[in-house]
Amino acid sequence: MFSQSLQDALNEQIKNEFYSAYMYLAMSSWFEDKALPGFAKWMRVQYQEELTHGLKIFDFILDRDARALVHGFNAPPAEWKSSLDAFESSYAHEQKVTAMINNLYALAVKENDYPTIVLLQWFINEQVEEEKSVKLIVDQLRMAGDSATALLLLDRELGARAA
Ligand code: FEO
Repeated sequence: MFSQSLQDALNEQIKNEFYSAYMYLAMSSWFEDKALPGFAKWMRVQYQEELTHGLKIFDFILDRDARALVHGFNAPPAEWKSSLDAFESSYAHEQKVTAMINNLYALAVKENDYPTIVLLQWFINEQVEEEKSVKLIVDQLRMAGDSATALLLLDRELGARAA
C-alpha cells in the first residue's frame, strides 16, 4: 500500500528537486555574467542533474500507479555577492535537501514501504556526493581568496565537468 501521505511527501520532493534545478540555472546565468564560463558550465550540468533527480521520483510515483504532480514554486535568487557566496549558498541548500531526503526515508521506514526505501537509498548516497563536491569548491574558493589567477584556474577546471 502506497500511502497518500508518502505520495504527498514524494510529490513535494519533486518540487524541491526542480527548485534546485532552477536555482543552479540561475547561478549558471550569474556566472556567465561574471565572465566565468567554467563555473557557469558546472552549474548548468548541476541543473541537468537536478532535473533527473526530480524525474526519478516522478517516474517512481507513476510506476507505483499513483499520480505524480507538478507543483509550482517561488523563483530562486538571481544575485550573489561573490563566487564564494554562490557556492556557500549551494552548500547550505544541499544540506537542506539532505535533511529532506532523510525525513522522507524516516517516513518510508515508518510505513514499511520497501520500494520507497530502496529509491531513497539512492538519494541518500547521492546527497553524500552532492555535499562533497560542493564543499570541495567552497574550500577551494576560500583558499583562492582574492586571487584572480586562482579563480581563473578553478574556472578552467570546473568547465571540464561532463554532462
Ligand atoms: Fe537533488 Fe542537489 O540534490
